[in-house]
Parts: sequence; structure tokens; C-alpha cells
Amino acid sequence: MFDFEKYGITMWDEEKIASFRRTLLAWYDQEKRDLPWRRTSDPYAIWVSEIMLQQTQVITVIPYYERFLNWFPTVADLAEASEEKLLKAWEGLGYYSRVRNMQTAAQQIMTKFGGQFPNNHADILSLQGIGPYTAGAIASIAFGLPEPAVDGNVMRVMARLFEVDHDIGNPANRKIFQAIMEVLIDPDRPGDFNQALMDLGTDIEGPKNPRPEESPVRAFSAAYLNGTMDKYPIKEPKKKPRPLAIQAYIIQNKKGEFLLEKNTKGKLLEGFWSFPICEANLVSQQLNLFEEDLPVVRDQLTQQQIFEESYQLKPNWSDQTFPEVKHTFSHQKWQIVMTEGHIERASDLNNANLAWVSPEDFSNYPFATPQKKMVEAYFGK
Ligand code: ADE
Repeated sequence: MFDFEKYGITMWDEEKIASFRRTLLAWYDQEKRDLPWRRTSDPYAIWVSEIMLQQTQVITVIPYYERFLNWFPTVADLAEASEEKLLKAWEGLGYYSRVRNMQTAAQQIMTKFGGQFPNNHADILSLQGIGPYTAGAIASIAFGLPEPAVDGNVMRVMARLFEVDHDIGNPANRKIFQAIMEVLIDPDRPGDFNQALMDLGTDIEGPKNPRPEESPVRAFSAAYLNGTMDKYPIKEPKKKPRPLAIQAYIIQNKKGEFLLEKNTKGKLLEGFWSFPICEANLVSQQLNLFEEDLPVVRDQLTQQQIFEESYQLKPNWSDQTFPEVKHTFSHQKWQIVMTEGHIERASDLNNANLAWVSPEDFSNYPFATPQKKMVEAYFGK
């Protein structure tokens, strides 16, 4: 048994738990939203809906969901889909790795599970791209297994019910909410129980403007009863991404080709090609300006010398300026300044990670978003 006391949580007795289940499910029976994936028990369809719902709201997902199942009605269809159609089906949803992972998982189902969607939690969790939340959702909704599906919405509701003083944004704390849910979940109707909490957590108990007085389970909620709804859930602000000044070199040769470099260092954007870039030297007294998000001031002369030394090329530098390019990753915020130079002779390159590429051939090189933005800002000049 999980040690709830250790986390400052007073778990309810059997009677209160039973009453909570009855109250929540009675509300769900009355109020549940009529959603396409609630009219099926096909685990494949439920899986598709759950992956889509991780990144987009219900209202946006519905047409994507219906088209996806039209194009790929079964696991076998998804396993065999062309990359082009697969990405097309996801266009506009973003996070394309999710749909690529789904295809890999579909192939795993074909090869490891004989084309049958696995019907137990451990096997579902073994599939590519399926984490504890999705595995719990599929196991409970499609197979009626008493598995919690703990996402941010469920954690928010639980944090208010029990006044949980632990940050819901810290992955290490997920186990607390998982443990609460393992006790509360209704073994007779686990899928409905999970979905009732999803409905509650996205609307009445939403992150913004909750309406606790309308909550069907307000009488169970410690935060509601104690007037601490504003305090829960505890969510520490995320660290701000660190600003980074990046210098980019747009170097063109006589043939109109541009110098591109493959990133082989570090994890961020490894394998992608871009104009040569490096972290910029800022003019020291301007550093504080940069923190304020004002234009980055650099010593252009030094930036150009750095390039000449590192690449052993000596371009004629132009004094043309370009719009600053910004791109934010989860932990870094890049402010990219581009400088342009021309090389008179078609120079040989001494490095397999460098290439002269004409703009028509850019599509043959994988570009990450910062590079796409640079291309736009440069050619849009
Ligand atoms: N969000 C994630 N899964 C959901 C579901 N099954 N129903 C409604 N909203 C959801």
C-alpha cells in the first residue's frame, strides 16, 4: 500500500471512495460529451484518439480522427501507409514524431502480436510511443481494465480533492497521483471513470477559470471545502529558456551555391543541415540589453574573423542586414543574426560535413525550424 501519509495525504475510507465513484459516474452518465471515440470499443481507434488528444483540443481532433480512420481503418493499413500519406494525415497537428511512432507501433503489432492489438497493460505499454498515460487510457477504455490514465487534467483534479502539496509539473511526483488513482478507480467502469475525470479536468475543473461550485464532486474536494482552490494544484513555473546569441554566416560562391554545414555536435538538432552558425560574441556592456530582449549588439568584425579562421575561407563581407531570426526551444532561446559574404572562386571544401548547395537542392537536406526561418528571412530580403 502506498504511504499516503508520507506525502501529507489523508486517503478516504471505503465508504467515501464508493460514494465518490457513484457520484462521479452518475454525473458522467448525465453530462458526458458525445464524442466519436466514445462510440467504439476498437482499441486501435481509441489509441488514435488518445494520441491526437495529447496535443490538440477535442473540437480540433474530431475531423482529423475521422479522416485518419477513413484512410487507415485498421492497424494493418497504418503499418503499411506511405510516409507521404502518413504525414499528410497529421498535417497541422504538429509533433510528427508521434505519427511516425504510431506507424512503428502498428508494425510491432503486426509482427509481435499477430496483428491483434495487445489486450493487457504491459504489452500495450511496450509499444513504440505509448507511455503510461496512453497505455492506461487504452487498457481502461477499450479493455475495461482498472488502469489509471494520469495526465495533467487528472493530476489537477486529484491535487484539489486531496490538497496535494507536490508540484504536478515534476515527473517524479506522478507516482503520487498514480497511487491515488489506483485506489479511487472504479473496477467496474474504469474507462468511464477515467473519461469522467478527463471531462471534469478540461472544463469545470480546467486550468483557467474553474467553476468549482458546479463540480459534481465538490463535496469531496478538500480544496473546495477549505477555500484553497486557488492554491491547488501546485505548479512551479517552468524555467525560462536561456537566451543565446547566435551568429549565422550566409556564404555564397560564384555559382550561386550556399555553404551548408551538417550539425554533428551535441543532441540538439544533430543530423540537420544549416548555414554555418556559432554562438556569438556580444559586445560586453550590451549583455544586459540582451536579457531585456532588445536587439543583440555584436562586434561584426570579430564575428567575421571567427568565421575566416574556423572555415579557412575569406569571403567578401557585405554590409547588408537582415531581420533577426528568433527560435525558442524548451531550454534555449536563439536570437540569430545573419551576415552575408561572397566567395570569388569556387573553393574546395575540406570537410565532409560542409557542402555547397544551390537553393533548388535545399529540399534534399534536412532543415530544422531555425534553418527554415533563416532561409525565409534571407530570401525574403
Ligand atoms: N482527452 C484525452 N482523452 C480523452 C477522452 N477519451 N475523452 C475526452 N477527452 C480526452
